[in-house]
Amino acid sequence: MKVLIVGGGGREHAIAWKVAQSKKVDKLYCAPGNAGIAEVAECVNIGVMDFEALVAFAKEKEIDLTIVAPDDPLAAGAVDAFEAAGLRAFGPRANAAILEGSKAFSKDLMKKYGIPTAAYETFDNPEDAFEYLETADMPIVLKADGLALGKGVLICNTLEEAKAGVKTLMLDKQFGSAGNRIVVEEFMTGREVSVLSFVDGKTIKIMTSAQDHKRAKDGDQGLNTGGMGTFSPSPFYTEEVDAFCRKYIYQPTVDAMRAEGREFKGIIFFGLMLTPKGPRVLEYNARFGDPETQVVLPRMKNDLVEIFEACIDGTLDQVELEFEDNAAVCVVLASDGYPEHYEKGFVISGLEKFKGAEGYYVFHAGSKFDAEGNIVTNGGRVLGVTATGPDLKAARANAYKATEWIGFSNKYMRYDIGKAIDEA
Ligand code: AMP
Ligand code: GLY
Repeated sequence: MKVLIVGGGGREHAIAWKVAQSKKVDKLYCAPGNAGIAEVAECVNIGVMDFEALVAFAKEKEIDLTIVAPDDPLAAGAVDAFEAAGLRAFGPRANAAILEGSKAFSKDLMKKYGIPTAAYETFDNPEDAFEYLETADMPIVLKADGLALGKGVLICNTLEEAKAGVKTLMLDKQFGSAGNRIVVEEFMTGREVSVLSFVDGKTIKIMTSAQDHKRAKDGDQGLNTGGMGTFSPSPFYTEEVDAFCRKYIYQPTVDAMRAEGREFKGIIFFGLMLTPKGPRVLEYNARFGDPETQVVLPRMKNDLVEIFEACIDGTLDQVELEFEDNAAVCVVLASDGYPEHYEKGFVISGLEKFKGAEGYYVFHAGSKFDAEGNIVTNGGRVLGVTATGPDLKAARANAYKATEWIGFSNKYMRYDIGKAIDEA
C-alpha cells in the first residue's frame, strides 16, 4: 500500500513511525512533514489546508490511504475532499469533526443525550454574557466556540476577570471568529485524563489512557500550551472509572453522533475530568492528541494501518486492541519563550543517540533542515522525547535521562512531567 499522512508535528511523527512499521505499507509520504518525519516517510511540501494540491498529489501517486491528523483540515472537510475524488481517507468528515470544531455543538449534544459534562450556557452576544455573569458562581470557565489551538479557554476567578474574558474573546476577538460565540461553563475540579479511541461509526475501541501537562511552567503555572509532556497509562484511570465511562460516555457519544446523522469515523479523544461527582467530559477532540500520541502509540502492539482500515470499512468490532504492559513518558523540549515569543533556527545536537536505543524515541514537533543540511529548531515545541519502562517511575527516569542527550540553544522543558505519579 501507498500511504499519505497529512500533518507535520510530533503527533504526525509518532503516527508516521508506527505506520512505517505496518506490514501492509510499501511507501509512505507525509505532507508537509518535518526533519524527523523525513526518516520514515518522504516529505512533500504541501500545506495541510491545501486540499486541492493534496488530492492531486494522492491521485498522481495512486495513494491507497490518506490519514488526516490535525483538527483544522478535518473541520474544514479534508476527508470529504478526498472522498469526493474517490480516494480513501481516515478521519471524520466535516459534519462529524464538528464534535471538536464547535464547543456549543458538543455541549448541546451532551445535554441532549445525557452525557455527563459541566453545566453551561451559550452566548452569541457579549451583553447577554455580561448579564449572565452578574449572578453566576465564581470561578467560571469561558470557552471560545471554535478552534483556537487549545488556547481559547479562560478560567476566571472573579466577576471582573470573567467580564474581561468576555471582552477578550467576543469584542477584542483574540481568537478571531472562534470567539463569535462563547460557552460559559461551570468550573469543575479533579484530575484530568486523556482517552483516545478508534471509531468506525458504530463500534468504539478504547486505547490506553494518558495525562497531558498543558501549562508552560512547572507546577502547572504559566500559559496554556499545546502540551508540554505526557505519561501513559494514568494511574487515576481505574477500572471503575473505565467502566463508568464506557457506559455513560464512550458508546453514548458514538450513538449520539449516529442518531444526529453525523456518523463518526476516526479518532475520538475524550478529555475527561475525574470530579468528586464522577467522570465528566471536559472536551472532545476529533483526532489524535499531541503529545498523547507520543506515549500511546509506542505502547500499542497492533498494526495501526489495519485499524485505520477497519474504521473506514466498519469492521472495528473484529479488532482487539493490544497494549504493552509497560508505561511511557514524553517530555517536550520547547524553545524558551513558547507559547509566546521565541527564536528558532538553532542546530539540534544529539539526535543520533536515539538510534538503536530500544525504548527511547525522539519525535520531532518543529524541526527542519537548513541550507547546510543541519537539523534546526523550527517551532515552539521542537521535540518530544519519549521513553518506556516497566512502570511509570522507570519510564519517567528514562525520559528525563534522554532529554540530556539533546542540545540546542534555547532548549526549555518542564522538570515535573509525571509528578502526579508520586501521588497515585
Ligand atoms: P479544553 O480545551 O476545553 O480541554 O480546556 C482546556 C483546559 O481548561 C482543560 O484541560 C482544563 O484544564 C481546563 N478546563 C476546561 N473546562 C473546565 C471546567 N469546566 N472546569 C475546570 N477546568 C476546565
Ligand atoms: N494534548 C491535547 C490536545 O492534543 O489537544
